[in-house]
Amino acid sequence: MSSALFSPLSIGSLALANRIVVSPMCQYSADDGCANDWHLMHLGMLANSGAALVVVEATHVERHGRITHGCLGLYSDENEAALARVMASVRRAGSAKFGIQLAHSGRKGSAQRPWEGPVALKNGGDPWETIAASPVAFGKDWHTPREATEDDMERVRNAFVSATKRALRIGFDEIELHLAHGYLAHNFISPVSNQRTDQYGGSFENRMRFPLSIVRAVRAVVPKSVPLGARITGSDWRADGLTPDDAVAIAKALKAEGIEFLCVSSGGITADTRNPAEPGYNVPIAARVRKEVGLPTRTVGLILKPEQAEAIVAQGQADQVSLARAFLDNPHWGWHAAKALDADVPRPPQYARVSPKLWAPAAAKG
Ligand SMILES: Cc1cc2nc3c(=O)[nH]c(=O)nc-3n(C[C@H](O)[C@H](O)[C@H](O)COP(=O)(O)O)c2cc1C
Repeated sequence: MSSALFSPLSIGSLALANRIVVSPMCQYSADDGCANDWHLMHLGMLANSGAALVVVEATHVERHGRITHGCLGLYSDENEAALARVMASVRRAGSAKFGIQLAHSGRKGSAQRPWEGPVALKNGGDPWETIAASPVAFGKDWHTPREATEDDMERVRNAFVSATKRALRIGFDEIELHLAHGYLAHNFISPVSNQRTDQYGGSFENRMRFPLSIVRAVRAVVPKSVPLGARITGSDWRADGLTPDDAVAIAKALKAEGIEFLCVSSGGITADTRNPAEPGYNVPIAARVRKEVGLPTRTVGLILKPEQAEAIVAQGQADQVSLARAFLDNPHWGWHAAKALDADVPRPPQYARVSPKLWAPAAAKG
């Protein structure tokens, strides 16, 4: 029987060879937002991973919207030129399509790189003032953000539009807005972090107002030839937080604004919340969102095995599976999944001799 995981999928005019996505993964290795040889190596490797689609890490729309000093940005001409160089090279190296995730860190910004300790930058580390829905810190050892004003919202919205135009000029195959993981947009949406009493806080409609205004502004500049999607939160994993019911409502509101695909993730609203540890913990939420909202939906979170990924797609729980750590661990995860599921993936001719058809002991010599 043919594999569902390795069946093609179209999202608008984007044709994808299979259902495997490399999830966006911050590398914390950019120079003032500029991609460099690390990204060339990292993304070049993933272009040949067997995933039909690779989503470039959270790429920040303003300098002070980065998480760390090493985060990628698209807020300057230098950022755009650097990422254009990297993307032109990695496209020549492999067959994957490339999306990009556009983001603003909000109160999770001005942080150290994770390997320096996952806390706010200290004096001497060039910290900056962060903004959020409300002046409440992400956790102990994090900066207390300033409450975002209407001027801040307008500046951030314009920055999303400007970064989107830069991403389109670079030629990304799809654009994903980061509305999850406790960053600025999710920070407005969640009642855990949004304690405002104005038109941007309180009711669900009010909490969605600023994030939806970003979506609307970005939608206005993205042509139909480039799918526009969003990563949303399926649950805050807290009694006082967003639930799968909210995820459905968020997804419906996004669909009404012209969002064309969704990635259902979860967690990250405060420093002390923890995601479940079971394999595929977001899958039931993604399945619900997919069924009730009717947009192409991908899911993410502890998807590790080819058979698990195959079952998720075959059972219609998600249209795509997005994997992060599994690809860091094994950058040819898609090749091995194809072998396990009796399917095929394109390999560059230099590596053709590991394809199951050619990899016989006699052929391996010389
Ligand atoms: C090193 C690393 C960096 C990450 N950076 C991002 C990011 O830029 N944007 C994002 O939405 N999620 C990011 N994530 C979360 C992953 O995309 C993914 O949602 C999460 O790791 C769960 O998937 P997994 O179990 O397959 O790793 C990152 C995860 C890792 C391990």
